[in-house]
Amino acid sequence: MPTRTVSFATSNEHKFREAALILSDFGLSVTRIAEKGTEIQSDNVGAIAAFAARQTSSALGLPLVVEDTGLFIDSLDGFPGPYASPVYKKMGLGGVLLLLKNESNRGARFESGVAFCEPEKEAKIFVGSLEGSIAKTPAGVGGFGFDPIFIPEGSDKTLAELSLDEKCSLSHRGKALGLFAKWYLAR
Ligand code: IMP
Repeated sequence: MPTRTVSFATSNEHKFREAALILSDFGLSVTRIAEKGTEIQSDNVGAIAAFAARQTSSALGLPLVVEDTGLFIDSLDGFPGPYASPVYKKMGLGGVLLLLKNESNRGARFESGVAFCEPEKEAKIFVGSLEGSIAKTPAGVGGFGFDPIFIPEGSDKTLAELSLDEKCSLSHRGKALGLFAKWYLAR
């Protein structure tokens, strides 16, 4: 039974649902704040989350968490990285698959940066990653974003073919939020 509440600032309903599920395993309940702050340009998802968390926390006078995700594709030198959001919106899954059309190296990694910040303080950053590969074709209807084309290492299914529980138990977001939860509860 959740006993403590954490505010999670995101415009993404899927992220919020995953965060609520992950943090409930630690006895934390989550309140959604539907604004995430400015997304700065950086190669570092932790730094991107930290800036937005500090800005939003100070603006609202509330301690809160912001999460930022990047998808790093090996054969594209880490593209799109933290720019996964505009790439998803403009090119979609099909555009990414086209970039890898004749590519045998399908290796890729999700990185999640979670930042917790109290008003006017420095953010505390937690990072989690998930190694895997880019599928040849999309599969599955679960999850969101790049889930239908991302196969976690050691699996033969895409993230979109897993249940929400299964995805969160191994995901970049699950790992980063798990580190945050342990730190938060030990404070
Ligand atoms: P951001 O963290 O909101 O900047 O996310 C960047 C992009 O990555 C978004 O367009 C999402 O669609 C995608 N994305 C974020 N998290 C995940 C995930 O867990 N699975 C698949 N795609 C994701």
